[in-house]
Amino acid sequence: MRIVEMTGEHVPQIAGLEQLCFSDPWSERSIASELDNDLALWLVALEGQTAVGYVGSQTVLGETDMMNLAVHPDFRRKGIAASLVRELVQRLKDRGSRCLTLEVRASNQPAQALYTSLGFAQVGRRPNYYQHPKEDGLILRKEWEL
Ligand SMILES: CC(C)(COP(=O)(O)OP(=O)(O)OC[C@H]1O[C@@H](n2cnc3c(N)ncnc32)[C@H](O)[C@@H]1OP(=O)(O)O)[C@@H](O)C(=O)NCCC(=O)NCCS
Repeated sequence: MRIVEMTGEHVPQIAGLEQLCFSDPWSERSIASELDNDLALWLVALEGQTAVGYVGSQTVLGETDMMNLAVHPDFRRKGIAASLVRELVQRLKDRGSRCLTLEVRASNQPAQALYTSLGFAQVGRRPNYYQHPKEDGLILRKEWEL
């Protein structure tokens, strides 16, 4: 497995993973538009030429939001998501970002276990943040020294 920055050739596969992993997926067009967004950094985990996971982020004034993280069901519990987030944090440090914030469904225990293991802490809760189904979002954050 290797981790690379997203390029146009990865977009259709990432859109497929979005459909597979989320009830409210980003469209292929929305994902492609991130390639033209100077604030965005998306990383892709590749097995050969196949995208098996990805993480998307956006940084404004030294603070980063993680928008999506997913790994193909057949490739889970192999450390791919943890590697993607660690690599993202390293690259964000290099770009001068000081923290990474994300929302996670209150019922999403696997993702919460992942984030806790990576040093994220809960800093808030957004009632009814998610649709399909409606659910609260927990706000988690990881901060570091530059
Ligand atoms: C959440 C998700 C990204 C995790 O991907 P992954 O590659 O399987 O995660 P990793 O293998 O890197 O897991 C690292 C650690 O996270 C925790 N973890 C991950 N999945 C878990 C699960 N199903 N149950 C309990 N803990 C879990 C464990 O501590 C794990 O370490 P371990 O395997 O040594 O016990 C994946 O399950 C996924 O794509 N889910 C659907 C989309 C989603 O919910 N994304 C997050 C939105 S906020």
